[in-house]
Amino acid sequence: MENMSGELTNFAKKLKEKYQLNVPEDVIASVYSSKPKLPILLSRATFRPDMIRSRPEIRIQKRRGNFLRNILGVMALSVPALMWMKVAWFSPQTKVPTYVSQQASGRLLANAASIPVNQSLTFNDPTYGPFLLVHLDNGQFVAYSSICTHAGCQVQFNPYAKEITCPCHGAVFNPYNNAQVVAGPAPLPLRNIPIQYDSAKGNIYLAN
Ligand code: FES
Repeated sequence: MENMSGELTNFAKKLKEKYQLNVPEDVIASVYSSKPKLPILLSRATFRPDMIRSRPEIRIQKRRGNFLRNILGVMALSVPALMWMKVAWFSPQTKVPTYVSQQASGRLLANAASIPVNQSLTFNDPTYGPFLLVHLDNGQFVAYSSICTHAGCQVQFNPYAKEITCPCHGAVFNPYNNAQVVAGPAPLPLRNIPIQYDSAKGNIYLAN
């Protein structure tokens, strides 16, 4: 009899935990005794309305969370894409560089339209050694030796700071002003590399 009572209690507990259904033990006992009282079972069973209400809310909150996550994900992906579009499509790429000579001769480096604003290309030349060709955001193209005047490390153009920087000891050069030293231990500006622009073809050449 004690076992039976324990089973009834366990069963009632399971109904409650799993289905949030409170069924009195005497009703369960009637089912066990092969005299099912289904109408009584249903009429005396009680639901926890708070559980029923809370589930849709949970679902809505989850959906809101997913929606916000998706929006943030799209925004995170869009920012670099928009920046690239701004650089690639709306920059004055075809503006005639004012810094370079208008005579076309020497080694072809690149077509001006192929280098987006704030981008640089690195070349190695037997005469000048390694150098950078930089498309500045004022429309000019400039070229400077990549060899740092401090201890000879290779400098790089930083498109975010719009500076030429040396990774070894932190020298900073201004590409808008003949690569003058802005910071760090470099004693001299970077070497200026002469370039030429062919306005008919839009090509940039290394000067002879
Ligand atoms: Fe460039 Fe020292 S080698 S800062």
